[in-house]
Amino acid sequence: MIDLSKLAEPGSIEQSLVDKIDLKRLPRHVAVIMDGNGRWARARKLPRVEGHRAGIDAVREIVETAARLELPVITLYAFSVENWKRPRYEVATLMMLLKEYLRKELATLMENNIRFTPIGRVEGLDPSVQRELRYAEEETAKNSGLLFQIALNYGGRAEIVDTCNRIMALLREREMSDAIIDEQFFADHLYTADIDDPDLLIRTSGELRVSNFLLWQIAYAEIHVTKVFWPDFRRRHLFEAIIDFQSRERRYGGVDESDAEMFIEAEGSPRSS
Ligand code: FPP
Repeated sequence: MIDLSKLAEPGSIEQSLVDKIDLKRLPRHVAVIMDGNGRWARARKLPRVEGHRAGIDAVREIVETAARLELPVITLYAFSVENWKRPRYEVATLMMLLKEYLRKELATLMENNIRFTPIGRVEGLDPSVQRELRYAEEETAKNSGLLFQIALNYGGRAEIVDTCNRIMALLREREMSDAIIDEQFFADHLYTADIDDPDLLIRTSGELRVSNFLLWQIAYAEIHVTKVFWPDFRRRHLFEAIIDFQSRERRYGGVDESDAEMFIEAEGSPRSS
C-alpha cells in the first residue's frame, strides 16, 4: 500500500502532482538516461566531476521515491561502454563516486526493501568496483521491493552481441546449433531476462537521443524528455514524467478501441459489403 505521506508534504507542488497520478496505472519499469552533469557544472564554473557528485543526490532521491511509489523496477544509465573515452580523471572519479554511493547508501537500500543489481559488462570494471557491486547485490538479494538496476559499462549493442554469443554457446553445448530461436527466447537471454521492458524512458538535459541504452527493451517505451539537468532532477520531475506517461495512448502497433469499432461498423455497412 503506497504511503502518500512519504511522497509529498501537504500543500506542496509535489502533492499537487501526486494528486494527478493514477496510482493504479504506474509504469512497471522506468529507465533513466541521466544527462547534463557536465553542463550543470559548467553553468556554475565548476569542474565536470562536481556535476557527477551533485548527480548522486538526484540518484538517492529518485531511487527512494521510486521505492515509495512501489514501482517494480528502475534502471539508471550510469556509465556506458563509450564513456571510457572520457578523461582518465573523470572516469576514476565516477568509479570512486559509485563505490562511495554503494557504501553509504546500502543501509537506505535495505530500509526501503530495495534489491540492487548492476547490468552491463561488469567484468570489465576495476576489481575494487566489482567487489562493492557484488557486496551490495548480495546484501540486498532477499529484498522484495523495488529492483534498482544500474547500467555500468553498458551498451545496448554490446548487450545484443553478448546475448547472441551466449545463445550460440548454449545451442552448441546442447548440440542444437541449427535451432531457430524466437523473440521470447532472445529476450530471455538478455542482461534483463525476467524483467519487464521499460514502459517509460526518461532523458534529462533536453537531448533527443537514446544513446545506445536498452535498445531491445525500449521498443515500445514512452519517451519523456526534460530540459532539467540530472543534478537538478527531483521527485517532482519524476511525478511530471509519470503524468506525461499516463497521458499517452499506448497502441503497440495496433489501433485504439474507437478506431477499431469504426472499422467493424464500416465492414458491416451496406457500402462495404
Ligand atoms: C551524463 O552527464 C552522466 C554520466 C555519464 C554519469 C552519470 C553518473 C552519475 C549521476 C553519478 C554516479 C552514479 C551513481 C549511481 C552513483 P554528462 O557528463 O554527459 O553531461 P554533459 O552532457 O552535460 O556533459
